[in-house]
Amino acid sequence: MSEIAKIEVNGSVYEFPVIEGTENEKAINISKLRGLTGGVTTIDPGYKNTGSCESGITFLDGEKGTLRYRGYSIEELAEKADFLEVAYLLIFGELPDAATLEKFQNDIKKQSIVDEEIKKIVDAFPKAAHPMGVLSSLTSALTAFNPNSVDVDSEEAMYNAVVKIMGKFPVLVAWTMRKNQGMPFKYSDSSLGYIENILKMMFKKPGEKYVQNPVLVNALDKLLILHADHEQNCSTSTVRIVGSSHAGLFASLSAGISALWGPLHGGANQAVLEMLAGIEEDGGDTAKYMAKAKDKSDPFRLMGFGHRVYKNFDPRAKIIKVAADEVLSDLGIEDPILNIAKGLEREALADDYFVSRKLYPNVDFYSGIIYRAMGIPTEMFTVMFALGRLPGWIAQWKEMRLRKEPIGRPRQVYIGENLRSFVPVEKR
Ligand code: ACO
Repeated sequence: MSEIAKIEVNGSVYEFPVIEGTENEKAINISKLRGLTGGVTTIDPGYKNTGSCESGITFLDGEKGTLRYRGYSIEELAEKADFLEVAYLLIFGELPDAATLEKFQNDIKKQSIVDEEIKKIVDAFPKAAHPMGVLSSLTSALTAFNPNSVDVDSEEAMYNAVVKIMGKFPVLVAWTMRKNQGMPFKYSDSSLGYIENILKMMFKKPGEKYVQNPVLVNALDKLLILHADHEQNCSTSTVRIVGSSHAGLFASLSAGISALWGPLHGGANQAVLEMLAGIEEDGGDTAKYMAKAKDKSDPFRLMGFGHRVYKNFDPRAKIIKVAADEVLSDLGIEDPILNIAKGLEREALADDYFVSRKLYPNVDFYSGIIYRAMGIPTEMFTVMFALGRLPGWIAQWKEMRLRKEPIGRPRQVYIGENLRSFVPVEKR
């Protein structure tokens, strides 16, 4: 017997089915609520209790600190898989066999040429433009060069769109950074792996040979894997809701990039480093900033701490903390800002305010530290997050369209003025 939930409104009781996911999560299906009750709706700001869809891509349990892509634990994927394998897994549902993976890698390489006209668009931005704004615009601009919307029901069309965006996106990322730094644009090098190619396109200096550092390659590979999907977060929900109007894939991705930009979401990695730099400039007094974070009359928050879903250690943060230590010791970096980060982490983990609210360091607390050590400018951190999240957004867009989900259109409870008469301007 399946479970039933009852809601009583003005003395009438209505029954709703309780659905159960494969990991025993339960949800009350209220899709018939308005019809049955004559227009009563639910309200749930921030959607803290609202599931927007059924999804078979990513499972996370915030209480236990569990994260899985298509059933595989994030710990195992970060240790044994590479980013393109994970991208294929997320988008197409299964790990690719050797031949499929090789084809996927090669098809992406073939697509890593960006129309020269796009360069003109990059050039038109002011040098100081924020890279997330540039990236979002460039991704949107790709629609102008690829006007046909993807036919999601055609496996071939979908595959072609995937390799196209996976191939071109790293070039856009690298050009965005080089524009910001006044460096000439670099083309993709098809002799290299996906990660090595990204690093070379970003860092190769004119007239110098770029030497790959395997520790950095490994750290970036892991970072991208860890960021690749995170179920119905703000940017992913944006991609799904924009796509639900049957807007094209690239347009939906561009909207996702804009959503990711905010400091309460992907922009947190930039905000973490800016916060740490601010604390250092102010004399490095971490206790003062701990007190500010706890003071309810002070808007300051400890960036990189807390998570909407994880009320336990963020499993990604555990993995990335190890990678951060590896990168810092390999590069022999002694950075006062990193010492402040370690001090804050130590103090917060021992402080009752943070412990009782289950506020642990999140993935962005450590990712910013690695990016800084790698020489990536702070404003580019969220762009690196977008690079990792790309396959997740594509997978979620594809799933939403294949499941023929209706257009996303939430309700509201109106709290404005009641009907009133228009007063001509001269009488106001
Ligand atoms: N510093 C200080 N206090 C905090 C912090 C923080 N970083 N985060 C939460 N709190 C406090 C809140 O003030 C609140 O206290 P109260 O219960 O006494 O009122 C309590 O903890 C719960 O916080 P909420 O804001 O209700 O939690 P929510 O789930 O809405 O927010 C969020 C999660 C937005 C991530 C929040 O913790 C935050 O702003 N963190 C800093 C920004 C950040 O690191 N964002 C990255 C998230 S990870 C990602 O997007 C990849």
